[in-house]
Parts: sequence; structure tokens; C-alpha cells
Amino acid sequence: MPPPSSRRSSRRDSEALSRRPSIDPSRLVPMNKVFQIRGIDVFNVVFVGAGNIMFGSDEGPWNHSFRFEHKLGPRLKVVALIDPAIDRAAAVLAKKRETFVRSAYEHTRVFKTLEDFVKNMTPRERPRAVIVGSPPMFRGTTRPGRDIELQILKYFPEAALFIEKPIATGPEEEIEEAFKVSQAIIDSGSVCSVGYMLRYLKGVQMIKKIIEDNDLQVMATIARYACAYEAIAKQDWWDKSKSCGPVVEQGTHFCDLSRYFGGDVDISSVTAHSLEWHENPGQLSKLNIDESRIAPENRIPRVTSATWKYENGAVGTFTHVVALQGHDYSCELEVYADGYQFKLVNPYVQPVLYIRRPGSDLEETHRFPDDDPFFSEVSNLIDIVEDIEEDPEGAIILSSYEDACKTYDLTWAIRRASEKSRKNV
Ligand SMILES: NC(=O)c1ccc[n+]([C@@H]2O[C@H](COP(=O)([O-])OP(=O)(O)OC[C@H]3O[C@@H](n4cnc5c(N)ncnc54)[C@H](O)[C@@H]3O)[C@@H](O)[C@H]2O)c1
Repeated sequence: MPPPSSRRSSRRDSEALSRRPSIDPSRLVPMNKVFQIRGIDVFNVVFVGAGNIMFGSDEGPWNHSFRFEHKLGPRLKVVALIDPAIDRAAAVLAKKRETFVRSAYEHTRVFKTLEDFVKNMTPRERPRAVIVGSPPMFRGTTRPGRDIELQILKYFPEAALFIEKPIATGPEEEIEEAFKVSQAIIDSGSVCSVGYMLRYLKGVQMIKKIIEDNDLQVMATIARYACAYEAIAKQDWWDKSKSCGPVVEQGTHFCDLSRYFGGDVDISSVTAHSLEWHENPGQLSKLNIDESRIAPENRIPRVTSATWKYENGAVGTFTHVVALQGHDYSCELEVYADGYQFKLVNPYVQPVLYIRRPGSDLEETHRFPDDDPFFSEVSNLIDIVEDIEEDPEGAIILSSYEDACKTYDLTWAIRRASEKSRKNV
């Protein structure tokens, strides 16, 4: 193991790498085609949060533990699982211990807080990465109890961080707090990746490559995110005081992708309208929660539609819709440049990319069977931590904490603008 100072400078190098904007799509390979990293040294990981993002659910393909198991194989040692709901944590561990990945979880200890782990930790348990999948209302600030990122930097300055999106869901006045956390991460030189996994889609990287290869200027992004509300049975999601509303909590993925192509947004230019729960077209017939238990002022809009200017003059539009039933979401992103239309359809379930090129009316269709952006984001993070990529085309983090703060800022600006223009009850 190199001395801490050289690891730190190599981390800085990795940070430099992380500023490159894209990955060659041919380098994004599915789990079953990747060789696990060889070696016998253990790779200690701490998981914060024992919920769906970490251990999977019927809601979708996310399940970080599964991707870590495949990337690291028998080297993975989950030294601690932090969750105040210790019964839930114990239950997911018990399940893992019944399977062939038992060795990763055999000695995992459960703690209610990171501090409890630090107090009880042996030197052999120091983590190389801390993966945070707790609810965003408990993070993204400098305030005690909601400052997990700063705690990680303090106790484990040599560890890499992975933080789920959105980076926070606090009151608007606290957006600046998130930028302070970002500065602390930058100053520490720590490797940090945020879970905007759609950036790692092959289709997204293919668009990026064509834009880079042809030196194109993006003129417009048009994003539409229609969730299947019948499948969303978490009461907190429907309560703005808990989850901040559907644009900040969920539409954030597409606001982030829009920014990935359009660049920084002129936040003062954001305008938006909403269809509210109390307006006639906003009545929903298949709610699986009891909305009467949510204070009227905290109920979420059914439609939010926004437009903005990017700092370079391009235009972005985004519409979030709470209207569909069933299970699958209907989401599309269009990106326009001189002569080009890129249309990415259904990125969550079965991504298809339609491309129209200069001088032609024809639309090419590209499909990406086996693409797994959740694996690609974990795989890139681990490769950077391991410093195994001398190759400048190697591992890259596509979503930094600072960038994720800007997406958070944009989503809050959309919510704020739609609330200003809405009809009140
Ligand atoms: N990238 C994606 O597509 C995707 C998908 C699902 C969830 N997420 C994100 O992951 C995060 C977690 O979502 P989830 O669906 O797993 O939620 P969840 O409710 O299923 O699980 C959250 C867990 O965190 C625990 N917890 C609460 N406070 C905690 C604290 N202070 N420290 C540690 N643990 C704490 C809870 O007890 C619970 O077990 C959210 O930010 C969500 O947006 C991202």
C-alpha cells in the first residue's frame, strides 16, 4: 500500500481525470463481461442506509450491494452497515449470509450512526469507500445529524465517497450549505461520485462522443419525465415537506442529464408552471397512498413544466408528469445541435437512441442490450480508488458532488418558479 501522501496525490490525479466529460461507449461493458479485479487484498466498504438503493426492491433495477459484489468478488468486505433501523439492517444481512456472497457480509457490524462505528472500529476495518444511500433529508449540509459527508471526510480522509442523488432535500435556504459541503470535498482531495447513473448509459455516452467528435454546440435540450404514480406507494414521496417534491426528488435525473449536455444553467432565467392537485385536471384515480393525511400545502403538483437558458445561450425545457398508472415510467430526452437530433427514449427500462444526422431525414435506431449504468458507475469508482488505470481513456467519474449541487440548485429553481406562478386553493 503506498504511503498516504502518494495515495492523496494519485487521488488528485483521479480528480483531474474526473473532469473529462465522457467515456468511450465501447468501454462500458456489462457485469458478466468484466473480470473481477484480481488480487487478494480485501476491499473494505461501509454502507450507509440499508434500504432499496443498497439492497434492491421490486421498484427498479437499483441494488448497489449486488454491483459491488460483482466488481470486487471475494475481496469485498462490508465492514459496517449504518442505519438507525437496525432490524431492517439485520434482516438484509441475514439474507446475504444465506447466499454465495456470504464472505462479504460474515463480519458486517450494524450501527445506528457512523460515529458509533468509528468508536468501535478496529484498524483492520478502516474503509476504502463509504457508500451513502440514506434519505437525502439527512445529508448535504454542515449541520449536526445531517452532515454525513463531512463526518466521512473527518474520520476517513483517505476513503472514497459515493453519495446517492439528490444530494439533499432540505429547505431552499440551505442550498448554500450543499455548496459548502462540495467545497470541503474538493479541498480534501477525496474521490467522490454522485449517483446520477444515467450519465453512464451507453446511449448517453454515444451522444456525448458524437458531440465531441464533431465539435457540436448543443442548441436545445427537451426532457420529459412521466412517472407511473400508481407504483409509488411511499407516503413521504407525495409530501413536499419530506421529499421536496417530484422535480427535486425524481425529475432530478433528467434535469441532471439536460445539464450534462447543455452545461451550466442561468438560474435567474428559470420559469415554470404547474398543474396542482386541487385543479380539476389534477385529480388522480389510482393513488396508492392516503393523500388526505398530507397537509394541503405540502401536496405535490401533477405536472411541472419549466424552461430556462443555459449560460451559453442554449435553451432547456423539462416537464415532469404524475399521470401514468401501471409500473413503467415514460421518459425521453432530446438534444439538438446544427443538423443533429438525438432522442433517447426509455432510459430506465430499455434505452433506445434515435439519431438524425446532417443532410438526411432518416432516423438511425440504436439499442443497448445488457447496458447496466448502475454497474458502470460502481465499476468506474472502484477502478479510480484502485488506481489501476494508467490509461487516460480509463475510469472516470461522470458526476462530481459540485456538479450534483448545480443540478440540485436547478431543481429547486424549477420548484420555486412553479410555486410562484401557480393558482392557489
Ligand atoms: N439512482 C437511482 O435510480 C435511485 C433509486 C432509488 C433510490 N435512490 C436514492 O437513494 C436514496 C435512498 O433511497 P431508498 O429508496 O434506498 O430509501 P429507503 O427508504 O428504501 O431506505 C433508506 C434507508 O436509510 C435509513 N436511514 C434513515 N436515516 C438514516 C441515517 N441518518 N443514516 C443512515 N441510514 C438512515 C432508513 O432507515 C432506511 O433503511 C435516496 O436519495 C434516493 O433518491 C436512487
